[in-house]
Amino acid sequence: MRVGVLCYALRHMFAAPSPFSLVLFGASGHLAQIKLYPALYILALKKRLPEQYAIVGFSRSAMDDGAFRSLVADAVHTHVPAVNESVLTAMLEHVHYYKGEYDSPDDFTALAKILKNLEKRWSGIVRLMYFSVPPSVFSAVGKNLCKGGVHTPEIPLRCIVEKPVGNDQESFQAIRDALIGCFREEEIYLLDHYLGKEAVRNIYYLRYANPVVETLLANALIHHVEITSFEAAGIEGRAGYFEHAGTLRDMFQSHMLMVASLLTMPLVETEQSIPKSRFGALKQFYLPPAKNLNTVILQGQYDAGEVHSSTVPAYQEEEGVATDSRTNTFIALKLLSRASRWQGVPFYLRSGKRLEKKETRISIQFQEPTEVGEGANPNCLHIILQGEAGMRLHLQTKMGGTNPSFRALVLADPLVCMGDCLPEHSLMILEAIHGKRHWFLSFNEVQTAWHLIDPLQAHLDEPTTALHHYPSGSKGPQEADAWITQQGVTWH
Ligand code: BG6
Repeated sequence: MRVGVLCYALRHMFAAPSPFSLVLFGASGHLAQIKLYPALYILALKKRLPEQYAIVGFSRSAMDDGAFRSLVADAVHTHVPAVNESVLTAMLEHVHYYKGEYDSPDDFTALAKILKNLEKRWSGIVRLMYFSVPPSVFSAVGKNLCKGGVHTPEIPLRCIVEKPVGNDQESFQAIRDALIGCFREEEIYLLDHYLGKEAVRNIYYLRYANPVVETLLANALIHHVEITSFEAAGIEGRAGYFEHAGTLRDMFQSHMLMVASLLTMPLVETEQSIPKSRFGALKQFYLPPAKNLNTVILQGQYDAGEVHSSTVPAYQEEEGVATDSRTNTFIALKLLSRASRWQGVPFYLRSGKRLEKKETRISIQFQEPTEVGEGANPNCLHIILQGEAGMRLHLQTKMGGTNPSFRALVLADPLVCMGDCLPEHSLMILEAIHGKRHWFLSFNEVQTAWHLIDPLQAHLDEPTTALHHYPSGSKGPQEADAWITQQGVTWH
């Protein structure tokens, strides 16, 4: 690391300023194990946690503190390379467990007593309630936090709710009403972990800090925008959730739309204005007018195949999935924006599971150059957020000789995060402790996203809407290539 960058990191080290208790609902679940325990361990490793803190797991599984600590330790060992055992052992001393039912007010009264006991000698406490549970139990947990006395006027509380908030507009509104009935809006932190990724935030800051880039982002210059998010992974044992979600709800309702919003939102002067501007950009997206929604959206589902040299089963053969399931695991979608500088620019978004590799990328293709000679291709700016991350601007340069012929000239940087880099959940937990909400979603954003997604989902759910199968390890259904070719474009 360069000396300047190291000094910057030390000066700007972001840490928890005061004692806190973090209660994790869904403590034995998938998200907690793959993301949250590793995130907390990284905070401990990087010395971002105060001396006094408690992590309390709450779920329906029968476990004592010892068994829960082993679960946390296993999760950290599985998901973090080269664990520092003394840091982990010290962190586990702060870890506790309570077996409870989400719909039992008595269990929440008991939880309130446990917290009071753990916090009795601490001052300046913040309580974080982390909803790492299916949307169907959000309302019950919210109500019982108030009824059981976990939420008290004396102690600042942050209620962190992981996306997806609901399954459609209606269920979202029920959750919002239940949460608003228990908490003030500023106590609610709706978390989309993509907004905690340095690379994703950087979409906005690359524009903010580079007028040269910002000037290029104008409809007169742009032919189309592609946003691709490929995953090599399948559903990772989450059939119970995924069968009712599918890729449109799972990846588009928040992650993909947020990436598109960060690319198109107006730049603002202060960080506090970011949420409003992001929401403003999201609201501008709309579905292209079409007689048939098949020209706007296409769905697919993975068959068996080979990913990274391993044979993997078809979606319909995954444990817990119906053998005739029509759940989509791949989506291609076309959107337009009403924002004046983006008017007329088509946005092609695609995401899928069990594809050839992990990659999240924005590709901005500029208008065709005038016919200047052989080898001249449209300029293109790729911002690769995950996978082989980097920013690449594709230009062209003249070849030697009397004929004007060209070769590609690529300006590239690996966009490595330097400075105080933290994994997304670590960063967002710290931000919640600090009460920084601008990288969390607002209810307005979630509602607007469902408003866009619901009619599309209804179309996909029609038995007559095609579901195109694709082999695992591929780039998705061939029909998705034909679909975009019909629009006069190809995927990058
Ligand atoms: C989650 C989805 O929100 O994001 C998962 O529920 C998906 O299905 C994951 O795999 C992708 O996140 P990342 O950080 O791996 O790109």
